[in-house]
Amino acid sequence: MSERSSKRWRRATISINERALKNNLHKVREYAPNSKVMAVIKADAYGHGMLSIAKQLVDADLFAVAMPAEAFALRADGCTMPIVVLHGFVDMAELEQFAKQNISTVVHQREQLDILLANDISKPIDVWIKIDTGMHRLGISDAEVGTYFEPLRKCKNVANIYMMSHFANADDSKNSLNNIQLELFLNVISYYDAACSMANSAAIIGLHKSHFEIVRPGIMLYGSSPLCGTSATTLGLQAVMQFESRLIDIKVVKAGESIGYGSRYTADKDVTMGIVAVGYGDGYPRHAKNGTPVWINNQRCALLGRVSMDSLCVDLTSADVNIGDRVVLWGKELSVDEIAQFSDTIAYELLCSAGAASL
Ligand SMILES: Cc1ncc(COP(=O)(O)O)c(C=O)c1O
Repeated sequence: MSERSSKRWRRATISINERALKNNLHKVREYAPNSKVMAVIKADAYGHGMLSIAKQLVDADLFAVAMPAEAFALRADGCTMPIVVLHGFVDMAELEQFAKQNISTVVHQREQLDILLANDISKPIDVWIKIDTGMHRLGISDAEVGTYFEPLRKCKNVANIYMMSHFANADDSKNSLNNIQLELFLNVISYYDAACSMANSAAIIGLHKSHFEIVRPGIMLYGSSPLCGTSATTLGLQAVMQFESRLIDIKVVKAGESIGYGSRYTADKDVTMGIVAVGYGDGYPRHAKNGTPVWINNQRCALLGRVSMDSLCVDLTSADVNIGDRVVLWGKELSVDEIAQFSDTIAYELLCSAGAASL
């Protein structure tokens, strides 16, 4: 375990469980044994710390980041792995940096194609053509692929061409768009000779036909379940981020009294209440509902009232705890997926927020 919080003046800490990370990468290989693994480490490795996560994931085959600056930071830190920038470059200066630093680019729109074709760069780079098969975010239409592939194939700036697409609903295995996207992608790629990538975490587990040559796991590497209704433990995944703080006060709130901002919770009987030194300033979700579980001294306790900037309240009526006890907000004992459900969000957002708050 390594602790990454540099905000020493806050009590909340984030620790990274490297063994869990390695276990999860191993699981990716079990789910997709015939594919290379492009580990998605964008957004500071989903809040886990991109540079240190990259060092722990040397057994992956490639890395994916969203922004050029993320790729440059990895190279500056000595990372020699193949890196793909999912948003690609926006101008010639960035493209030349890709060439100099041996970074691969996604091409998802015409401007990028034109820049690549019209200029000379110092060294050819690998190019990933992103095809929009139904997500309707980044990517070119299936009808346009030929107008990208052929010029890129002849372009001296291009080393290898790959094809990729991204699912919109892979977390919901019953969603009919999954197969529509897959069939469209299969049809397009049948006309070209290129290695392909489509599967994110959910598709790695649930859509085997989408594995192709390279899979792109993100959330499952960090130990959260990518599938609605299936727990991470069931999938063999282990929590990488351990988010903890301490219990700093215990008091009794009398029947009829309310707790916290907005008086959202009113006690219907006398309640022993604890105050934990963590809040939305640490990345804990402000929208967590009454009853959200908090783990204190091996007991599940329930959140009471609204989360504040640096504290939250819990029901200790039937708990055996003391001031100073360790409190787990999420991690090994308490799944971040469960906290996400109680907060009407997804684990991705919670991990990113807690990670960002710890910087
Ligand atoms: C293009 C692309 N591929 C792969 C991933 C990884 O997705 P997940 O974290 O659901 O595995 C992402 C994440 O958003 C992405 O944008």
